[in-house]
Amino acid sequence: MKENLQLIKENALEELKKVVSKDELETIRVKYLGKKGELTSILRGMGKLSSEERPIVGKLANEVRECIDNLITKAAEDIKNVEKQKRLQNEVIDISMPGKKQRVGKRHPLDLTLENIKDIFISMGFAIEEGPEVEKDYYNFEALNIPKDHPARGEQDTFYINDNVVLRTQTSPIQIRTMENEKPPIKMIAPGKVYRSDDLDATHSPIFYQVEGLVIDKGITFADLKGTLETFVKKMFGDEMETKFRPHHFPFTEPSAEMDATCFVCGGKGCRVCKNSGWIEILGCGMVHPQVLRNCGIDPEVYSGFAFGFGLDRMVMLKYGIDDIRLLYESDMRFLDQF
Ligand code: DAH
Repeated sequence: MKENLQLIKENALEELKKVVSKDELETIRVKYLGKKGELTSILRGMGKLSSEERPIVGKLANEVRECIDNLITKAAEDIKNVEKQKRLQNEVIDISMPGKKQRVGKRHPLDLTLENIKDIFISMGFAIEEGPEVEKDYYNFEALNIPKDHPARGEQDTFYINDNVVLRTQTSPIQIRTMENEKPPIKMIAPGKVYRSDDLDATHSPIFYQVEGLVIDKGITFADLKGTLETFVKKMFGDEMETKFRPHHFPFTEPSAEMDATCFVCGGKGCRVCKNSGWIEILGCGMVHPQVLRNCGIDPEVYSGFAFGFGLDRMVMLKYGIDDIRLLYESDMRFLDQF
């Protein structure tokens, strides 16, 4: 019987060494310590032993039982630890793994350039004004000295909402709105979208951006206009830039001019972009027409001023060497990623 007990102990130890799961452990417990287990049946047979042998075998049997019991408890703990370790390992975050790159949006070249322009004019003391894109015919045309039968209406292919309401064809109506609402001195620029029913091609878009400028005060002369616009061009494109003014006609300014700047592609030598002239047309400008001032309740005998307007898209295209205006409105990421 002693040998039997020893054997049971050895077998149990052997099996417990290999155990890896709770289920296996339970099977072993039942096999050795259960009601019908090996050790239990030995203990049951003790009755047949002599009274000298009984305490000895009983003591040994209890030792074996305790030993197996302890080992089972320990194995259960080991299994629990291993499982916990596994769980923790699965939850581990590898902070050295390369991250997934998120695609970040970028500023649109129109927006970037406009910010640049705004900064320059703000630094010269200009305010930023806004006006509606759906505009009264009066503000878009009449108040700017462009009556219904004026030929200038024909040049600006207008989207009419009805007889009296249009999609603004220019940002100049913001001049009128500003002069109606504010007393001179006025110093403002007004950027915004304008609409013309042009067919879309490389140089025309039915929607594009203009930036309007207006300065009204006592004693403003053409010299102020030149000085302001020259400063703007030098700050925008570089100190080496030259400007020149050509006589022109706009209904809302008198005298009127167009301003050219040194071609920034060839530096004035002559190239494809400036059509070999060395100059690029930048904007329209002039001294605000006395009738326009009167339309806004400003006395032209007391006040004078200058105004200017340019196409933002054209400026962006010149700045970045973009030869198709459609690229600015197609939201093609391959194009936009380059800015
Ligand atoms: N509104 C003109 C256009 O759309 C641009 C312009 C020219 C605005 C001269 C002005 C200006 O304020 O003085 O062609």
